[in-house]
Amino acid sequence: MKDNTLFLYGAPASGKTTLGRQLAERWGAAWVDLDERITASEGRDIPTIFAAEGEAVFRRIESGVLRQTLAEPAAKRVVSLGGGTLLDPENRALCEAAGTVVCLETPDAEELARRIGSAAGSRPLGDRAKARAPHYASFPNRLAAAFEAGPSLVVVGNGLSGALLKGAHPVADATVAARYRDRIPEPLATIPSGEEHKTPATVMRLWQAFARAGIGRRDTVTAVGGGVTGDLTGFAAATWMRGIDWINFPTTLLAMVDASTGGKTGCDLPEGKNLAGAFHPPRMVVIDTDFLKTLPAAILADGRAEMIKHEVIGGLDHADPPAGIPSAAEIARNLRVKVEIVREDPFEKTGRRVLLNCGHTVAHAVEQRSGYRLSHGSAVAIGCVAEARMAVRLGLAAPEWVAELAARFAAAGLPTDLPEGMTMETLVPVMKGDKKHSGSTVLFALPCGWGDVRAVPVELREG
Ligand SMILES: NC(=O)c1ccc[n+]([C@@H]2O[C@H](COP(=O)([O-])OP(=O)(O)OC[C@H]3O[C@@H](n4cnc5c(N)ncnc54)[C@H](O)[C@@H]3O)[C@@H](O)[C@H]2O)c1
Ligand SMILES: [Zn+2]
Repeated sequence: MKDNTLFLYGAPASGKTTLGRQLAERWGAAWVDLDERITASEGRDIPTIFAAEGEAVFRRIESGVLRQTLAEPAAKRVVSLGGGTLLDPENRALCEAAGTVVCLETPDAEELARRIGSAAGSRPLGDRAKARAPHYASFPNRLAAAFEAGPSLVVVGNGLSGALLKGAHPVADATVAARYRDRIPEPLATIPSGEEHKTPATVMRLWQAFARAGIGRRDTVTAVGGGVTGDLTGFAAATWMRGIDWINFPTTLLAMVDASTGGKTGCDLPEGKNLAGAFHPPRMVVIDTDFLKTLPAAILADGRAEMIKHEVIGGLDHADPPAGIPSAAEIARNLRVKVEIVREDPFEKTGRRVLLNCGHTVAHAVEQRSGYRLSHGSAVAIGCVAEARMAVRLGLAAPEWVAELAARFAAAGLPTDLPEGMTMETLVPVMKGDKKHSGSTVLFALPCGWGDVRAVPVELREG
């Protein structure tokens, strides 16, 4: 049965063992560490076998143990391979036929040296990893990063979803389900595409689908879609039998860098967006950049807007143009800005999390005044630039800052000026209605420069 096994491969000390164990636990799969199996079956450790018998004999032993392992039945399984297991073409063919091989991105020489530390034999290990770089690079499925975001394990790469959606109970965005039938053959439920479906009625439909499928306390449901699908599925999971686990496969750039972490789930009401909800983080977030290939350019640009917001908050490198599909490594770096802030303020209580609201006070007002015809990303670009202008007026930023920030958003194909007929004055009543207001003072998270966002209460006067 192809694809029930996920093989983790990569250079020594790239994290195959630690990650293999974590991934198996979150995926609900069995875990096998090949080196451990070899040590157990031979009754001696690998360096001893190497020293006594040489590499050729070791590879034969390794092949035998691999075959034995794969002959054992398993519903779902993660196998952490050795650092050179797939140098043997037969082993490689065997693993590629039995499941999905994912290669951990080789850490650079410096990082490798840090991980291996002063352990004996560390230099030959590091050198060997470098010489093998082309071999590792020949594997198309890659894992660029894995880290914890609160209680969630986040993995970022490509070629991950085929294997990790095996055996799942997926709730999928209808467009995504149609495009990726191979990966989502039988969704538990589909959600019609669009924010207008982010309603209690859809949550009700999900609960009913859970009931029909017999989803119980110990089951895990899986979201495959953009922020709408994640928010709805997470909320349905939070409330089903008083809370069951869920896994999130974000498929839009915005959902990958923003909505997938932070724990917020919920739905909209006619009275306002996101009014009903719960904090209920998924146990795992699988970010597979393969999904981005089918994303329309305008929706990709919406995600870019949030990425630029994170670049500003985190003072990230912004030398590369913000166009096209970002790499998994770039997405991981960007997402970590949000993850770090949420870590310090998981339930939005200490005020730290307000920084994530950068540009958003104006953005929400612009969105609302446009009757939600303007996309959220476009509104964020306009809002960030407008708020940068406020920062300059308050003497908190240099005058050049506005044009610099606007150029970055424009390069991503996003608008930077208020739409026709809208002025900051006409937005004031809407901003004062923002949930962060108190009296006529509104708390802004003003972008003042790269790596410089400040929470500033601003007195807003109408007219
Ligand atoms: N929970 C949070 O912390 C948080 C943070 C930010 C935003 N959000 C929420 O996220 C939502 C916006 O997310 P979004 O922009 O992902 O919207 P979305 O889920 O509506 O997706 C946008 C569109 O892209 C389509 N789509 C999704 N993946 C695709 C793919 N791989 N290929 C082709 N088409 C695809 C969808 O069908 C939809 O039409 C809002 O409801 C917002 O409130 C939540
Ligand atoms: Zn936003």
